[in-house]
Order: sequence, then structure tokens, then C-alpha cells
Amino acid sequence: MTGLGKAPPKGTLFGIIGAMDEELTLLRGALQDAREERAGGFTLFSGTLAGHAALLAQCGIGKVNAGALAQVLALRGVSHVLFTGVAGGLQPGLKVGDLVVSTDAVQHDVDVTALGYPVGTIPGEGAAWPADAHLLELALTAAADLGGVRAVAGRVASGDQFIADPAKGRWLHETFGAACAEMEGAAVAQVCHKAGVPFVIIRSLSDSADEGAETDFRTFTALAAERAKRVVLGVLERFPGR
Ligand code: ADE
Repeated sequence: MTGLGKAPPKGTLFGIIGAMDEELTLLRGALQDAREERAGGFTLFSGTLAGHAALLAQCGIGKVNAGALAQVLALRGVSHVLFTGVAGGLQPGLKVGDLVVSTDAVQHDVDVTALGYPVGTIPGEGAAWPADAHLLELALTAAADLGGVRAVAGRVASGDQFIADPAKGRWLHETFGAACAEMEGAAVAQVCHKAGVPFVIIRSLSDSADEGAETDFRTFTALAAERAKRVVLGVLERFPGR
């Protein structure tokens, strides 16, 4: 692995996005000198987080909300984007509480197969949007330092669907090689890619996207969100230039 000793980048401003209250409130508590403002229909919280300038905001559920907020943050000049939250596990062997850090992200509900495109591919775009290698490395290191928490690098599959069906989960894993399913990450990835902003998605598993997903999601989201938040702070703590 390389990159941990990089020179401090100039003008670092982290954009940090979560979809739900549980995912963002914890980080807002750690934000120093916090200021609140409205932009593009979102509430942005700016301040200092783990020694870095940061803009935090909750996007709401789903790809449109996530993409819209990512665009607002890109126009506000964020230099890096971290998406934090929970997901349903797809990769065999992964369990509730484990962490997935994105290698890249796909939109599993895109279907232009009738025109000859592979499922998940938007005509004129790549099939997947790659995460930033340095942020990925920092997130895996931060996760490893939590101790006793399993973290894998893997593909994130996003769609406007809560997956609670083992057959659908298997299809997502087999078709896309996805490690987890959620509802926002790939929209953020697509916007960040267009805007040239490096990103990574940090997801902790609240469920296994199967018949128990609804109950597990309700039971384990708080725990999983807390884990993902610790990794986000760990990335910032390890990022050069504090
Ligand atoms: N977020 C958390 N669990 C999920 C699931 N099973 N499907 C989609 N998004 C999720």
C-alpha cells in the first residue's frame, strides 16, 4: 500500500454525506465551530471535523436525493467526498456490523438492456464509478484500527429499492459482484466522477438483504451507523494536513 505519507493537499474541504438521521447526527456532534445554512434544498453544517474543514449534510433516501446533494457539495468546492451509512450485505460470509469500503459503485436498477446495453449501464457512461484509492486505503486502515471489526474492500450496488429478498440479493452479487446493497452511493459516485471530486463510500452492514432484512435493519442500524461514523473520523484523522 502506498499514499499514507502524501504531502498535505492544499485547500482540503471534506464533504460528508449520510442518507438518514442516524448516519449524520453522530458526526454533527463531533463538528467544531459548527455553522448551519441552507443550499439547494439541503441543510449544510460547516465546521472543523477531526482537524479538517468539513461540510456535512443529510441527503435523504435514494439516488436522486444523494446525487442532488453531491452536486451542491461539488459546487461548494469540496475537495473530497465521504459517504457514510448502513447497507445490506450481499457477499457470502459478511455479517451484520461488518464494514464495506467501496472499490467502486454501480447502479443496479438501471436497465437499458432493450437497447443492447448490459444491465446497470447508463448509455454514454461507464458501468461503474471507481472510488479514490487513497481514501479507500485510509478507510481500510481506520477500520482495521477499530479492532475486531471485519472490513472488506468491495463493490457497492445502489438502487431505489430496499433489498429484502435472498434471490434478489444473490442476483445482485452474481450479476455485479457487489459486496453490499444500498440506495445512494453510486449516485454520489456518478456526480463526483463528473465533477472530478475523489470519493469513497463507507458502509456498515445493518442486515443481509434477505427475508430478515426489515427486522435487522430496524435493530442494527444504530450500531452499524456508529461503526461507519468511527471509520469516517478515522479517515480524517489519518488524512494529511490537519
Ligand atoms: N440499506 C440498508 N440495508 C439495505 C438493504 N437491504 N437494501 C437497500 N438499502 C439498504
